[in-house]
Amino acid sequence: ITAAATAMALVLSAGAGVAACDDGEMVIKFSHVTNTDKHPKGIAASLLQQRVNDEMNGTACMEVFPNSTLYNDDQVLEAMLQGDVHLAAPSLSKFEKYTKQFRIFDLPFMFKNMDAVNAFQASETGQAMLESMARRGLLGLAFWHNGLKQFSANKPLLDPSDAAGLKFRVQTSDVLVAQMEALGASPQPMAFSEVYGALQTGVVDGQENTWSNIYGQKFFEVQDGITETNHGVLDYLVVTSVEWWEGLDEGVRDQLGTILMEVTDTRNSESEAVNQQAKQSILEAGGEVRQLTDEQRTAWVDAMKPVWTQFEADVGAENIAAAQEMNA
Ligand code: LMR
Repeated sequence: ITAAATAMALVLSAGAGVAACDDGEMVIKFSHVTNTDKHPKGIAASLLQQRVNDEMNGTACMEVFPNSTLYNDDQVLEAMLQGDVHLAAPSLSKFEKYTKQFRIFDLPFMFKNMDAVNAFQASETGQAMLESMARRGLLGLAFWHNGLKQFSANKPLLDPSDAAGLKFRVQTSDVLVAQMEALGASPQPMAFSEVYGALQTGVVDGQENTWSNIYGQKFFEVQDGITETNHGVLDYLVVTSVEWWEGLDEGVRDQLGTILMEVTDTRNSESEAVNQQAKQSILEAGGEVRQLTDEQRTAWVDAMKPVWTQFEADVGAENIAAAQEMNA
């Protein structure tokens, strides 16, 4: 079996996600790493695909490749710069090679809830970040929400000292590495598609993610329990290449941009509901969810917040101040 045949088998196994494109239609490939129907990003990408294929029929055709079937997040931005894929929505933690500005979203306890995240992204500071990688050839088109992260491990996590000495999978982000080191834990950057296996075999002891990712990847099945810490944000940047975007006919670009904005508004307002549903599904499947007392929560804040000072120069003290205003 040739590599091409293997790739074709993968594409076919992506099944319903791949639309048949007609001759003469411009093909828009969107690669992502989650499921399609129980996840804020997956649902948004599916809705985008459906609307583009209905409303731009004859002009453009979108093919969505979910579940890391085409690329994982470490590969997709390079592939985009090569012109092999046109849209992706990696988490904001995955852009370190291109900009340090998004580090603000990884700083623990920066935003008290998703309303604050939303307000910050919509502000002038947030909107300017969409263009922060233009020199490197990448253009942000929209922020898509997932939600706040929770910790899980192979033992109960109630006090921050419970995490000390454990190995935690983190996304490829220096801030998240520093956050785990602040807890005395050992951070292991790893692709999303490898986390379940690593938890199952004990390569790592724990992880942090949103309810929809913990449910969608079944992490709860191979963990002792999940602690509701809401300690950080996992959000996405819908990203494209400057070259591809600017090469589109103006009418096509406008129509695609408008559909994307509408899908963004519709689905961002539902992301919390999708995560709460995922939490409920975890409980119904027998997963253990632990709450922190106020005192325990304060201890996690005290342990992790010192990380801010390490990255203040990268993200800018004025941006931290702007983010904090959104919590008021
Ligand atoms: C992760 O790697 O944990 C997330 O970025 C996956 C995702 O896209 O939600």
